[in-house]
Amino acid sequence: MTISEWLAEARTRIDALDTELIAVRFFAPGDSVVNGAEVDRSWLAAHGEDEIFADLATLANEMVARRASGEPLAHIFGFKEFYGRKFKVSPEVLIPRPETEGLIELIRGLDLPEEPKFLEIGTGSGCIAATLAAECPRAKVVATDVSERALEMARVNNVVLGTGVEFYRGDLLEDLPDDVGGFDVLVANLPYVDEEWGWLDKRTLNFEPELALYAEDGGLALYKKLILQMKARGEEFARYIVFEADPCQHEALIRFAEENGLLLVKAEGFGVVFRGDLVKSVK
Ligand SMILES: C[S@@+](CC[C@H](N)C(=O)[O-])C[C@H]1O[C@@H](n2cnc3c(N)ncnc32)[C@H](O)[C@@H]1O
Repeated sequence: MTISEWLAEARTRIDALDTELIAVRFFAPGDSVVNGAEVDRSWLAAHGEDEIFADLATLANEMVARRASGEPLAHIFGFKEFYGRKFKVSPEVLIPRPETEGLIELIRGLDLPEEPKFLEIGTGSGCIAATLAAECPRAKVVATDVSERALEMARVNNVVLGTGVEFYRGDLLEDLPDDVGGFDVLVANLPYVDEEWGWLDKRTLNFEPELALYAEDGGLALYKKLILQMKARGEEFARYIVFEADPCQHEALIRFAEENGLLLVKAEGFGVVFRGDLVKSVK
């Protein structure tokens, strides 16, 4: 069987991009896979008539079957690319999403000191914390998650990328030591999916941990709890606060945040940025 014949057959079962990603992974030499994710289409076009080994085709077909059953490609490959780096993933962590890269862009656009202190709440695979540490090597980065299993994956990524993030396990800010504070940025991509949303693709989401996805109160319960905990820690705790939420939630999130002492800086894409150090007298 040639690569073109294999692609044509696989395309009848899963989408074209996924067939190409699987084909490149199995049939192309390692250097044809750009950053582990993008397809070098010129390689595929030039090698369409190459014969493939039956054993390799069998392995590739197993991946097609898994993908056809709804399993995300990131689980099948064991990694997902985020902001140009590969992050190991497993069913214990949320697969990093492209929209979350927007938070990194928002943070890069802030006026920060040369050695900023970042705190991430709900780190999952560690993709936000490790990216901030990698993009800003003089930063100190602290990251937390309530899930020990997620933290195990974040620690692995931290070691592989050599990013020096410090991890704590805990429920939002509750288990952070009292003397931890003075952050330039607190960033969080907490679970914000409301199970009532009609447009959810449960077939894909069912492969990811519920703890990473869903929240009560229109999806905002955890953000509201975190805002109240930050308020209790005082305005010195974090200068900027950067949250990810669905754009349909921004109005409600901004209203609650402003009622509790935060000041909106901007909302862009899925990200919302607040100042946490300016409003001192909100009760
Ligand atoms: C939406 S995922 C985000 C993961 C990662 N930061 C990312 O952007 O891909 C939310 C993460 O928050 C964690 N989480 C859920 N409830 C939490 C809580 N009460 N305190 C701390 N982390 C929590 C979950 O375990 C999960 O890893």
